[in-house]
Amino acid sequence: MQSVLVTGGAGFIGSNFVKYLLREESDVHVINLDALTYAGNLENLNDLPAPERHEFIKGNICDGPLVHRLLREYKIDTIVHFAAESHVDRSILGPSQFIQTNIVGTFTLLDEAKKFWVDEEAFSLADVRLHHISTDEVYGSLGPDDPPFSETTPYAPNSPYAASKASSDHLVRAYGHTYGMPISITNCSNNYGPLQYPEKLIPLMILNALTGKDLPIYGDGQQIRDWLLVEDHCEAILRVIKDGIPGETYNVGGGNQPTNIEIVELICSFLDELVPDSPHAPHISLIRHVADRPGHDRRYAIDNTKIRRELDWQPHDSLQSGLLKTVEWYLRNSNWVLMVLNNPTFKGWIDRNYSIGSLNE
Ligand code: NAD
Ligand code: TYD
Repeated sequence: MQSVLVTGGAGFIGSNFVKYLLREESDVHVINLDALTYAGNLENLNDLPAPERHEFIKGNICDGPLVHRLLREYKIDTIVHFAAESHVDRSILGPSQFIQTNIVGTFTLLDEAKKFWVDEEAFSLADVRLHHISTDEVYGSLGPDDPPFSETTPYAPNSPYAASKASSDHLVRAYGHTYGMPISITNCSNNYGPLQYPEKLIPLMILNALTGKDLPIYGDGQQIRDWLLVEDHCEAILRVIKDGIPGETYNVGGGNQPTNIEIVELICSFLDELVPDSPHAPHISLIRHVADRPGHDRRYAIDNTKIRRELDWQPHDSLQSGLLKTVEWYLRNSNWVLMVLNNPTFKGWIDRNYSIGSLNE
């Protein structure tokens, strides 16, 4: 691994991964291709550990000629594919961009990599890898007593987001199976941590609580996710790229099962401690139940056995410690927070998404 194309490296997980990779691998050069949609932000790439080994390219993964040129110009031997539309609520209000980026974009990347690596034999196939970052949401929703998702759980995506990611997983797998492309896939549970755009549950709740706004819980708040600190996800991805078997899928998760309401209560209790003189304390009083998300998946849970056994990976942070670090990060990084909150695109999203559900306290 010498010349790595990271797609979506200005987004939440991608930017954390770029930093992690530059820190862990001293010989690697990173070419970071990102379209800078509402979710991508060059500020996420401030304080890179080795900026001289990083080059940012603003561009779209659906642009075949651009991907074609980058692969050859930088002699790319590894692709780590994060770029996607990633928010379920946006996929419900407007699925078409999800089809374009997540399906057509992944296809474009695969096809260009195949031309370069397989057809033109630019490298020995033993020396290249396309790693695709996916989600546990492709497996659908679990009942309270169902076993957690394993790598053999049948796909049953419920939201347009999950369906588009499932489709991209199938394309990646098919390129491995049909053309012998050395691919790998990780299906990870919900991430949280520094630099997450505050449309997602955890940063939205932290920032709403800090500014005294309602904390909107969809439905009864008893939905369950499996939460993983982003740094632990980054470690799993690098482990799979280096030591995972080509063609294989690995499930990655934090091994916890809190309800949404428990997560929000925990955030409120951390804020009560960390900002004791807040006019909004106790922050729990800001919780409001709002109309449920259509088709809301009830429960996700990940069986980590394969990656634990085969690659000796396990999360370092518990949910408590990871969440505390995350709340502290948002408190420390007020410039980043203000930049995002004051952006009209963000305000527009909040108005659009949260004016729909009627409050039913
Ligand atoms: P994000 O929305 O924060 O970032 C996505 C990035 O992709 C942004 O920088 C955006 O500008 C870029 N992008 C979007 N469309 C693009 C295009 N057409 N061409 C180039 N760049 C484009 O997302 P995230 O939360 O960092 O998720 C990254 C990946 O991880 C996604 O594939 C997502 O499905 C997957 N994933 C996310 C989670 C999670 O909890 N956030 C969990 C499991 C898997
Ligand atoms: P989210 O962070 O959007 O991730 P995902 O939908 O991919 O799991 O949401 C996490 C959970 O939190 C999910 O069950 C929906 C719920 N949720 C709320 O209750 N209120 C909100 O305002 C948001 C954004 C999410």
